[in-house]
Amino acid sequence: MNKRRVAILISGGGSNMLALLDSMTGDHPARPCLVLSNDPDAAGLARAAQRGVPVASVDHRPFAGDRAAFEAALMQPLEAAQPDILCLAGFMRVLTPGFVTRWHGRMLNIHPSLLPKYRGLRTHERAIAAGDREHGCTVHEVTPELDDGPILGQARVPVLDDDTQETLAARVLEQEHRLYPAVLRRFACGSREPLFLE
Ligand code: GRF
Repeated sequence: MNKRRVAILISGGGSNMLALLDSMTGDHPARPCLVLSNDPDAAGLARAAQRGVPVASVDHRPFAGDRAAFEAALMQPLEAAQPDILCLAGFMRVLTPGFVTRWHGRMLNIHPSLLPKYRGLRTHERAIAAGDREHGCTVHEVTPELDDGPILGQARVPVLDDDTQETLAARVLEQEHRLYPAVLRRFACGSREPLFLE
């Protein structure tokens, strides 16, 4: 069976991207075809290139808020790479409904909270401020509504009394690196059965 082609979009270090790259080996039904960033200086680009994965970047800054124009530029390396699946992994740009609809059913994102709690930013700070005893991460299909699509997987972590947002973020990130590869493998096999990691 042909391997599914996966493009991964990043904005920074790309630790989730690396976990995904390292998982796509052997009998895994998918292989990476591109790592694409909105920041030409994203450290993840060099890390992907070191692993022999094609990389590209489209700096969003010259588009100065013209999201559609930026996304049209993003489409060029994407169309060249012909991905079957897009994985947003620490990708920090909001995508327009036009772009999202084009990839409907084929685009995943990982968000550092137990959605539907804490859509948006500063999720760890908000969980601590709320006194939550549990927190975690979610992989979901991307839909036009921010951080709102069908949930494909979640992993939970305890919130400790002396947690700072940094210690909690680190505990969640560790679970992201387990959850995202596990969900991508199922998704690449055609399964949308949600996965809840203990
Ligand atoms: C992390 O905060 C992670 O929770 C979220 O994006 C940020 C950077 O992730 N998904 P990465 O290390 O670039 O994958």
